[in-house]
Amino acid sequence: MDRIEITEVGLRDGLQNEKTFFPTADKIDIGNRLVAAGLHRLEATSFVSPKAVPQLADAEAVIGGIKPVDGLVLEALVPNERGAKRAMAANVKVWVAFASATESHSLANSNASIETALERIKPLGELAKSAGAELYGSVAVAFDCPFEGQVGTAQVLRLAEAYHAMGIRVLKLGDTIGSASPRRVKELVSSLQAELPDMQLILHFHDTRGMGLANVMSGLEAGANRFESALGGLGGCPFAPGALGNISTEDLVHLLHLEGLSTGIDLPALIGVGKLLESRLGRPLPARLLRSEPVGTLYDLNASARASG
Ligand code: HMG
Ligand code: MG
Repeated sequence: MDRIEITEVGLRDGLQNEKTFFPTADKIDIGNRLVAAGLHRLEATSFVSPKAVPQLADAEAVIGGIKPVDGLVLEALVPNERGAKRAMAANVKVWVAFASATESHSLANSNASIETALERIKPLGELAKSAGAELYGSVAVAFDCPFEGQVGTAQVLRLAEAYHAMGIRVLKLGDTIGSASPRRVKELVSSLQAELPDMQLILHFHDTRGMGLANVMSGLEAGANRFESALGGLGGCPFAPGALGNISTEDLVHLLHLEGLSTGIDLPALIGVGKLLESRLGRPLPARLLRSEPVGTLYDLNASARASG
């Protein structure tokens, strides 16, 4: 059975958009429960400016609170040398640098041009190496930008090549505002595979318009085997208007298992963690599997309503 790797980004992308501070102890508790449910890759926080993203100001405490278990990889966003020093001190082994495919989103998200954002990332490779960490590159607005509209393959390729030149071999493609459609996913993935065959791709879809899982299917058909999703379907970028939740981990795992793919994740346990997150946030979350039972669930005929007479 083919194995698909999921990075759970709920503690980072999921929570970064929450206006009310989600207590550090609850972040850690959710993180540990996700690990117990079989999630072995968590993008757990960001070492960004706490003024820009106050929700993640407790990055060090969250990383320190998640219990290490065999095979667990904690990732964190790292925008600059300051973030790298924090990631190093926290002993994080996967650093995710990020840049935007358009100048407007770069200004909103990184307070800098694309060029300057990339200049800030350049020293991170050496720093990561000295810390025994891996550096990944993420492309935000890889499909559409809320300020500039449709993004061309050449714009994404330009960033991917810049990352490649820095020694980065894992690339995250962000559908920040959830506007990608299956045809465009196939085209972008195929172009990147052709241009940079030694770059591993991770697909990061938001589900703003309900196309997230269709895009996953398209990514799978194009050969991708790494995806990102957030518990409950929480999430969004505070610096991209109209960006709603990520695809939900519950729904993604359900789909992959139905397709005969393995994830190592215990779906009922994961659904339990999603329900706990809903109760801690005090509102329902978008994941469909939080409102319905997995396919294959059987009901008691005698306990069900029956039309009669
Ligand atoms: P800046 O304001 O241009 O940089 O920030 P600066 O160097 O002038 O620093 C300003 C202040 O921030 C200073 O503090 C620095 O010390 C502090 P002050 O002197 O005013 O007290 N600072 C930091 N503090 C802690 N850790 C740091 C750090 N860096 C600076 N690392 C910067 C530039 C990029 C840092 C800032 O704009 C920032 O933090 N932006 C946050 C961007 C962000 O987190 N966006 C969301 C994540 S991306 C996303 O969601 C998309 C994704 O999900 C994929 C997708 O969906 O497409 C990944
Ligand atoms: Mg995102």
